[in-house]
Amino acid sequence: MKGVYALLLLIFPGICLAVEDDRRIDCLPGKDEASCSSMGCIWEQTQSEAPNCYLPQTYGYRARGELYEIEGGLAIDLVRETEISMFGSDYQEITVAFEHQTKDRLRVKIYSKDEQRFEVPLKIEGAEFSEENEYSYEIINEPVFSIKIFRKSSGTVIFDSSLGGLTFSDQFLQISTILPSSNFYGLGEQEQPSFKHDMNWKTWGMFARDHPPDGDINLYGVHPRYTVLEEDGNAHGVLFLNSNAQEVLLMPTPGLVYRTIGGILDIYFFLGPSPEEVVSQYTEAVGRYYVPPYWSLGFQLCRWGYNTLDNMKAAWQRTRDAGIPFDVQWGDIDYMDRSLDFTINPTDFKELPAFVDSLHDIGMKFIPILDPCISMGEPVGSYPPFEEGNALKIWVSNSSGDPLVGKVWPADNCHFPDFSNPTTQEWWISQLAVFHELVSYDGIWIDMNEPANFVAGSVDGCEDNKWNSPPYKPKSVGDTLPDKTICLDAEQNFGRHYDTHSLYGWSQSEPTLRGVEEATGKRGLVLSRSTFVGSGKYAAHWLGDNWSEWDNLHFSIIGILQFSQFGYPLVGADICGFIGNSTEELCARWHQLGAFYPFSRNHNVWDGVDQDPGVWEGGLVARVAKDAFKLKYEILPYLYSLFYYHTLTGATVTRPVWHEFPMDKKTWNIDTQFMLGPGIMVSPILEQGKITRQVYLPKDSIWYSLPLDGSIHSGDIEVESDLNNSAHTTPIHFRGGFIIPTQEGDFMNTVEQRKSNAFSLKAFLNSEGMAFGFLFLDDGESLNSQNVHTRVIFSIEKGSMESRAEVNDYTEANNMFYEKITIYGVKEIVTQVTLNNEFIEADGFNYDKDSVSLTIYLGQECPVPDLFVLHWF
Ligand code: GLC
Repeated sequence: MKGVYALLLLIFPGICLAVEDDRRIDCLPGKDEASCSSMGCIWEQTQSEAPNCYLPQTYGYRARGELYEIEGGLAIDLVRETEISMFGSDYQEITVAFEHQTKDRLRVKIYSKDEQRFEVPLKIEGAEFSEENEYSYEIINEPVFSIKIFRKSSGTVIFDSSLGGLTFSDQFLQISTILPSSNFYGLGEQEQPSFKHDMNWKTWGMFARDHPPDGDINLYGVHPRYTVLEEDGNAHGVLFLNSNAQEVLLMPTPGLVYRTIGGILDIYFFLGPSPEEVVSQYTEAVGRYYVPPYWSLGFQLCRWGYNTLDNMKAAWQRTRDAGIPFDVQWGDIDYMDRSLDFTINPTDFKELPAFVDSLHDIGMKFIPILDPCISMGEPVGSYPPFEEGNALKIWVSNSSGDPLVGKVWPADNCHFPDFSNPTTQEWWISQLAVFHELVSYDGIWIDMNEPANFVAGSVDGCEDNKWNSPPYKPKSVGDTLPDKTICLDAEQNFGRHYDTHSLYGWSQSEPTLRGVEEATGKRGLVLSRSTFVGSGKYAAHWLGDNWSEWDNLHFSIIGILQFSQFGYPLVGADICGFIGNSTEELCARWHQLGAFYPFSRNHNVWDGVDQDPGVWEGGLVARVAKDAFKLKYEILPYLYSLFYYHTLTGATVTRPVWHEFPMDKKTWNIDTQFMLGPGIMVSPILEQGKITRQVYLPKDSIWYSLPLDGSIHSGDIEVESDLNNSAHTTPIHFRGGFIIPTQEGDFMNTVEQRKSNAFSLKAFLNSEGMAFGFLFLDDGESLNSQNVHTRVIFSIEKGSMESRAEVNDYTEANNMFYEKITIYGVKEIVTQVTLNNEFIEADGFNYDKDSVSLTIYLGQECPVPDLFVLHWF
């Protein structure tokens, strides 16, 4: 029968099973009518971007037998049902396992029972067998095998592989799905022009790569994960857990085709239904970030090409002199001796250790860069990192088993440590400890860990084999996959580089954090350029070598929202842009935006003009930066508490507007505004020469604009921020219904020095007169394992506010006080206020008609953790 069918197709290509343009699955090797037909695929030219040569609907597998029980779920065996082979070595028999991991998480694993293929060595947490689930699924066997996954509550089909093209071959695996909506977000890492994807035949490649952001080019990290917001406002997420070179083709139907060139098809579904729950369920599975050191939320300064400590100090001094809140100074490769890891330039940065000590004296921190490739060219006996590593045989090896030789920043060639090897991890941690003796850093920046290599594959090139030149190359920049990295037939402890390439930065992140924490004895910070699913548990991320150009302001918001969904709450882009020269206006606007990145660092390329905020003549950038960061530092208690909630629930810190308002269609496309937690909207000016912009404030809420003059908005509004008007700063709105803990006071301080400042609460009532908030407190720097903290919950209802500590283990909190509590949106004049049922004297509170607010001055009466109740009337 199969043969007859193939014959029919050969004679009447396309006649029996023509597929609408929008639903065609590319028969990839078929480049023209002859090659297409000879493969048994269908050739039909089209005016759209749909493929001309496509797979018949009968392409794929069929179920053999019924579903049977396995541990944690059900499985079914499939047999291949087609003669067409796109890239050879197809598996004739495969198995599809449905693991009911939690009530909201389903795993669909398509694999071979006969052969152990590469699987990503990431431990997925919380997998148990769940019986009562939010999902159900159905198997269809006509014309070939496909699956439908349903959201039980609404009946929505969230995944439907009947679009076709299921392939499981040695070096090409593919599955497709029809999507329930075009509200499709995710996939990374690339520079995406809009947060909501364009579904018109766009392909996004994923393969870790050292390349500046440039349109759809694959960048440093790999996150094959998406969220779909269904038409009724429910959301679900999908992860393809695979680390091979891969791509996703988005189709207008709407649908997608997922393709990878190794491993297995390992798909996780997260049922939400709210967008925040999708992130929560995803990070529950892959790991959540810890509460970062408090100082890591402050302003940070860096550049490549200070070239001397004097220049670094000058930029640092300018920032201090300008009165800009400022916490961390960074050192790029020029602090090193000839770009050698774990060294300090003996002439130009000789005094760096002393400078770092002086930073510590004023509560500031220092973070140096390290690149993975270790130079082999130093005289014997002079460079222990290399010699010790060599003795321990910790390097990634080439296909002949010798250490692979690459070339990165140092003048000589270098070897790549294999961080998947526990011995390498110990070696790295011990180098970090020795280095800390030299310069007492507070965190480590791991760069070039895609891994980047300036010669293709190795100094000797790569063999021409199926790993280095696979039959199908997913969309990726460069002529070959080893371009700008190492040969894909290189060997690592956890597998062949072909499978593990995109895991390099991931494998370096955890031991780096361990090393930093062991060396410093404190909570560490690791900033990693390359990331993979789950490395958000250990590392923060910046968006790489962006450009000092206006459109990059907008792209940075998209990148931050993406990484937020990927489970990286501490993320930012280089403020003022990395490549190229910033301008005064761009740099000022970038500080206005960058102050509200969770990770706020100004960083610059070696040949760019200085762009630290204090360097600009006339002081405009410095003033604008100071005002923006002053605002950020005021709301740090709120921001820090959001990080704590991330560790508890997976809640995002920066979030797209639709995460909070999924039913409001007007929010679905918004990516020039973003939210900090549920309570603050940030709407920066992103265009050159503009001082106003349109902002959408979802109508389900009321919003209080800065300055807090009593004006309340909802819907489409225009905001103004004129750089020349010192009363203007980043356009911010506070959402009714939320209470924002703040710390005001002296702004010259670092985060550390500000810790003892009194707290204030700013409560913004919603239209029902209610509000809610929380505050997390700890010392901001001890190891998370100690977990000593205090957590306070606030609520306002019917003219009364309660504050209650849910946890109070951080004894210092008992010495912290509320200076004042301001409640905005109190419409009726207040003449009396009680605190714990005792009347407060008339000068202890103030009702302000203009700003429609009530302020209560508490002073030392109210330690932060104490239960208190306020009433006003
Ligand atoms: C890479 C990094 C960049 C750094 C430079 C020099 O390009 O992405 O941030 O400044 O290397 O170390």
